[in-house]
Amino acid sequence: MAAMQASMALKRGTSNLLGLQRGFSTSYKEHGYTLPDLPYGYGELEPAISGDIMQLHHSKHHQAYITGFNQALEKLDAAHSNRDPQTIVQLQAALKFNGGGHVNHSIFWKNLAPIKEGGGVPPEGSLASAIEAEFGSLETLKAKMVAGGVGVQGSGWVWLGLNKDLKKLVVETTANQDPLVTKGLIPLLGIDVWEHAYYLQYKNVRPDYLKNIWKVVNWKDVSSRYEENV
Ligand SMILES: [Fe+2]
Repeated sequence: MAAMQASMALKRGTSNLLGLQRGFSTSYKEHGYTLPDLPYGYGELEPAISGDIMQLHHSKHHQAYITGFNQALEKLDAAHSNRDPQTIVQLQAALKFNGGGHVNHSIFWKNLAPIKEGGGVPPEGSLASAIEAEFGSLETLKAKMVAGGVGVQGSGWVWLGLNKDLKKLVVETTANQDPLVTKGLIPLLGIDVWEHAYYLQYKNVRPDYLKNIWKVVNWKDVSSRYEENV
């Protein structure tokens, strides 16, 4: 909490110094966080994930988290200006949910790639070695993540994460939009198991979605995240 406030204060100060790059002293509607472009077209992950799902998921759902995050940040600024600690604390749930939604989806889009651009091609190098050492094989890791994702009650995410201190790969799940950093882990690969991620195409059969998504996993991106942090 204190760290977050200190970080916000630092960001505010930095933004002011840098000429209001993100405009913390003006409206978040004009200068807040914005929806990142997808690195591929909506239909390019088909048939694993339909274009309709991708369009809705990116342009509506991810946008809604960003809008909610900006609104919460604006209220946080106002509460801080008003020296209103009660409201500041009250806002933490909205910040975690909407900020987490923005963080998680921003990773998720990059974790995926069209097949023609290398989606589904197994990892190589140090990540491949680490997966083999930790799980025995890539197939075992996939099965563990599928089981983890199927087991998430309600909405959430299943992750391949890195315990940086132990230099150890772990499979973990998070509820709602909790980002993996809330469990002290670095996110390498996140799979969204909210119904909005698959229902239009897979209906209630979450296991089929989890089985097919591997065809479009961008292991190059996952490897980069691993190499940057190990
Ligand atoms: Fe989502």
